[in-house]
Parts: sequence; C-alpha cells; structure tokens
Amino acid sequence: MRDISMSELRELVRDDRVHRRVFLDADLFELEMHRIFARNWIFVGHESQVAKPGDFFSTRIGRQPVVMARHTDGKVRVLYNRCGHRGAKVVNEEAGNAKRFRCLYHGWMYHTDGRLAAVPLPDDYPAGCDLKDPKLGMIEVARVASYRGFVFASLSAKVPDLVDWLGEAKQGLDDVADGSPEGEVEFAGGCHRYEYAGNWKHQYENLTDCYHTLSTHASTVADDGQQFHRRPGETGGQAEFTDKAGAPVILDIGVYTYPNGHSATDTIIKEPAAGGVMEKYRKQLIKKHGKERAEEVLRQPYHNMTIFPTLDILFVQNVIRVIMPIAVDRTEVRIFPMRFKGAPREIFENHIKYVNLTHSASSFVQSDDLEAFRRVQQGLEAQGTEWNLLARGIGQERVNNKGVGYGTRSSELGQRHQHHAWLEAMVRD
Ligand code: FES
Ligand SMILES: [Fe+2]
Repeated sequence: MRDISMSELRELVRDDRVHRRVFLDADLFELEMHRIFARNWIFVGHESQVAKPGDFFSTRIGRQPVVMARHTDGKVRVLYNRCGHRGAKVVNEEAGNAKRFRCLYHGWMYHTDGRLAAVPLPDDYPAGCDLKDPKLGMIEVARVASYRGFVFASLSAKVPDLVDWLGEAKQGLDDVADGSPEGEVEFAGGCHRYEYAGNWKHQYENLTDCYHTLSTHASTVADDGQQFHRRPGETGGQAEFTDKAGAPVILDIGVYTYPNGHSATDTIIKEPAAGGVMEKYRKQLIKKHGKERAEEVLRQPYHNMTIFPTLDILFVQNVIRVIMPIAVDRTEVRIFPMRFKGAPREIFENHIKYVNLTHSASSFVQSDDLEAFRRVQQGLEAQGTEWNLLARGIGQERVNNKGVGYGTRSSELGQRHQHHAWLEAMVRD
C-alpha cells in the first residue's frame, strides 16, 4: 500500500468541497479499513439476533469477518471469525445455533465464547506446543458494548465509552426502543440486502441528502418515469415526496449534525398515523412511558438518523440499515426490519410492507438511489475537475451549544459534516 501523508489527506477535504479521490483511490480505501473501521465503534448487530445461548450471527467489521455469539454464560461476545490453527473462517453460516463451532479444514472445535475446545489427534503435537494458549482460540475483539440491545464493537481498545461516543445520536436508538411497549425491539424480519458498484460513502452521503429526492426519485413519483425507465411499458408511480397540496416536502425539512460524524434528517410525516390499531398501540405506549414520552415517540421527529460510519435508522419503516464496504468501488448494504416487542402484530406487518416497497432490492425508492451511486462512481472517473461541490447552505447553518448543527431544506451540511468526520478519523494518531 502506498504511503499517504497527513498533509495529503488534509488536502482532500475543504470547507465546501471534497476531492474525487476519496471515492476512487484504492490505497485510501485500505487506509480507511485501518483508520476508520479498525479503530472506531462499529455496529455489529442486535442482541435479539442471538437471543439464546449458542445463537450466533456472522458479519464483518470493515472487511474482517467476525461472529457475534451468545455463550452459555449469557454474555454476548464478538469473535474474530478465524481458526487458530491455519486461519480458515470457522463460521460460514450467516446465523444459527451451535453447541460448538467446528472448523471445516482440520476439525478444530471452539466453545461459543471462542476458547479452543478440542483438536483432532492432539498427540502429534510436540511436547512444547501448548494447545491451551488462548491465542489458538477464536479471539475476542478489543471492545464490545451494547446500548438498548444494539451491539457495537471496536477492534481497537482505544475508543471512548460507547454512550459518550453516541452522544446526541443515542436518542435515535432510544426512540426506536421506546417504540416498543416493552422497551425493546427485535430484529425479527430477516434481512434485505443489496450491492452497488460504488464507494460506501455515496450511501452515507445520501442519508442526509434532502436535495436529491425530487430529481432522483422522479421515476418513483412521476407518472411518466421521466428519469430512467427500469423496464419497457412502465408507466405508474406514486406521490411520496409532495404534500397533499403538491408542494415538495424538502421545503420544510432539514438536517441535524452531531459530534463524531452522526446526523439526522427531519421527518417527512406531518401527523402520526391514528385510528384502528394505532389507538391500542398508543395506549400501550402511554402505559409504559407516560403521555408525554409516548407522544414524542409516536411523532417520530426524524426521518432517519445515522451513526457514523455504517449505521442508519429509518424510523417510518422501523428498520436498521448497515453499510458494509467491500472494495473502493463496491458496497453491500443490509437492512434489518425491527419489531416493537409487545406491539400489535399489524404494526410490524405494516412496517414490513413499507420497507418492501421502499428499500428492498426490487423497491422503488432505494433502486433510484443505487442508480445515482453507480452514475456518481462512473462519472468521477472523468478528469475534467477534481472536486465535488458541497456548498449548499454554507453560512445559513445554526449550531447550538451542544455542537448540534442544523441546516434547512437542501443544505449540504450533512455531507460536509460527514467528510470532516472522515478526515478527523483518518488523521487521528
Ligand atoms: S485451519 Fe481450522 S482446523 Fe485447520
Ligand atoms: Fe433517495
């Protein structure tokens, strides 16, 4: 990997623009894996995915395979998914329940807390070879912590307390968990998954981009499929981005920025749903949280909230989105529907229907964005200019004394904030 100096990194992000290299340079991507993904809190999964002892869930932190598992002592651990013998990935199923993990290659067996349990033909090792050495186990990552059931891990021990690091953004996790009459959610709806031919930061940029909706999603909302046609004969569409009077909803929403690169956007829903099953649900929440907090949760003040660098909460659909970089120009995104424990079944069914419509691989809205990411990645190869302009709303932001910024309407405050957090992480000692 080519050496990239601190001053070279600082050149890439300016107050109103970002250099195209941050999306294109494979050496920078390698550096991101070390400086961002290996030494920050990264979301791993939810405790409900490993509810019982022996339950496990395989995922990645950056590109490193890990497995989250609940051991017989009830504790949730995050282990490097690597055999202590000759390195094979031990757990290859995405999720399941196991008494032991068994490596395919030579049959080494591990307890679900990572300790080596058994080795075939152990007597063939010489006397000095200590099979009790913990390094021969599946090693635990340096830090694991959970907040309201959301499990984060860090490959480096040098990270602040999780709650301090979440800061203002922990409110998003509170709002989701308090949406349950039992105070906790379950990842109970499987997983939607998509990949796109572009850098992972396109997806993160998009999460606070209120500017793109009217154009990018034109093919979703307009009746003539005016941006691009997905298939011959397509004519339909539905109005999701205008209010009842036909005015664009971006006119009165904005973006919040929080310390450590987290952010949120205002809700596009004016009134919480009411009537029918919602009344039963409202009563349940009032009983659990009191009227004021229940109404606050039902109002859902945010459309989405991001937790840098990989997590996004979409409130209306009640899903978590996780950005998983694969290569400088390839990204996987996973979407996990959440069920409010104890809430009426219809609430969950409605969320599932909604996310199928907006964010499944065959959905309307999300596939518009993916087409934009692909085009950005391709367009950035052109050498006419080196910079992406992010100047919208400069000078109009408000910042309060907690370091929370707010930019109205189509402000690019969120993208500026993201790239500054990226730079800070990349140049930190
Ligand atoms: S590599 Fe796992 S048992 Fe040999
Ligand atoms: Fe979008």
